[in-house]
Amino acid sequence: MAAPVRKGEEFEVGIESLAYGGNGVGRLDGFVVFVRGGLPGDVVRARTTKVKRAFAEATKTAVLEPSPHRVEAPCRHFGVCGGCRFQDLGYAEQLAQKEAQVRDALLRLGGFEDPPLAPIVPARSQFGYRNKLEYSFAHGEDGLVLGFHRAGRWDEVIDVEECLLTTDVGNAIREAVEEWARSEGLEPYDQEAQTGYLRHLVVREGRNTGQALVMLVTTPGDRFDADFLIETVTRFPEVRSLHWAINDRPAEVTNLPTRLLWGAPWIEEELLGLRFRVRPNAFLQTNTEMAETIYTLARDAAGLTGVEVVYDLYCGTGTIGLALADRASSIWGVEISEESVACAIENAEVNEIGNARFFAGNVGQSLEELQEKAGLPDVVVVDPPRAGLAGKALRRTGALRAPRLVYVSCNPTTLASDLAVLRDEYGYALERCTPVDMFPHTPHIESVSLLVQPATPAADRDDEGRGATTTKGVNG
Ligand SMILES: C[S@@+](CC[C@H](N)C(=O)[O-])C[C@H]1O[C@@H](n2cnc3c(N)ncnc32)[C@H](O)[C@@H]1O
Repeated sequence: MAAPVRKGEEFEVGIESLAYGGNGVGRLDGFVVFVRGGLPGDVVRARTTKVKRAFAEATKTAVLEPSPHRVEAPCRHFGVCGGCRFQDLGYAEQLAQKEAQVRDALLRLGGFEDPPLAPIVPARSQFGYRNKLEYSFAHGEDGLVLGFHRAGRWDEVIDVEECLLTTDVGNAIREAVEEWARSEGLEPYDQEAQTGYLRHLVVREGRNTGQALVMLVTTPGDRFDADFLIETVTRFPEVRSLHWAINDRPAEVTNLPTRLLWGAPWIEEELLGLRFRVRPNAFLQTNTEMAETIYTLARDAAGLTGVEVVYDLYCGTGTIGLALADRASSIWGVEISEESVACAIENAEVNEIGNARFFAGNVGQSLEELQEKAGLPDVVVVDPPRAGLAGKALRRTGALRAPRLVYVSCNPTTLASDLAVLRDEYGYALERCTPVDMFPHTPHIESVSLLVQPATPAADRDDEGRGATTTKGVNG
């Protein structure tokens, strides 16, 4: 079908749904157009930005008939802030759209005709749910500002007065550090000119412990009065840990070596009754409440009885494996970040868990060695980044043919294609997929899926030449 629009052309269209990633989906005589800013139920005018053979992309220029699902966005920064895109879409509709996106991905990309989809689990809190926020310093109209990037702009930062995704304490710490920076007369970093000093502020909160960690990122140079900063942040009794990191490169990163300026080297978070150390760069799911929900779903899907060997692949700081440990014979975690593995080992010690072991490595390259150490798994839990189980990791995970495979996903499109390979090439059956809303008002969708292997005698698994040993009694 020839595209009915040309680049730059304006047209009117009704928005039917949201595509994964958050653009509205409309049709012009059957031809699909993805409209940025269009919400399901709207009739909008839009301008075409890109035309491809099978679809076009456009940006909303006006809402002609608003969707009945539209609501007033509660945040004063909505629209200009690049953070929450869907605060103006009613929460029930956000959930319906996310659930439909998972179904659609499983159907169209995964070829699951009637996907066994459980209803989406709503977020426990629609606001104030983040336990970590990263702010940027920049020049504003009236001097230094500390906030988030303007939507679609890498070079502009808006002065955030209140972010509805963090807590009152989180907001107050940011305001206090902004005041400190102004009274110190420090220059914010200018991304374009690559000049200036103050770059980022990271605030992490243990939401179940009430502890906060603050990290300042600057360019090189000892240009501030550390005592004044310490005095500023320790006004908040929640702050237990203050770090300073130096970024001498143009890239806007905060995952840097840090120097402890004050307090403890870490704070703690509690998940499902376990304590986890949160160091400045340690990975921790950024929504504590919904991490607990996801781990509970993963634990239920694992169906442990106390005798199983469990692989926790992409284990981060060991949170999932440790949450499963009391119901398993042994837990074997693999994670690419050495710092996270060190945290996982430390977290096992803190919680006095003796049957969990963690290794640094790339999942695609470590499974054979892991199998030599641990034996074949009874349950494999994977929690990969958005790219999914790329390449070798997918094939080697499939070839383990663990009776149960629990797939925790943060991207339904890579999930669907991975599940199709696990089904077609490794005989897995998808028993259930539960979408979870961890990040209201954003396009992100998590899910927990359970795949099962039709009963495979251990001997058959050995035949595939991966040197299996016994799967029982391996303790870490
Ligand atoms: C979505 S996080 C999950 C972490 C953990 N399961 C949790 O719930 O906190 C994905 C993790 O995979 C790790 N990772 C990314 N690529 C990897 C690879 N090829 N091999 C092993 N780990 C990897 C990342 O460092 C990150 O910690």
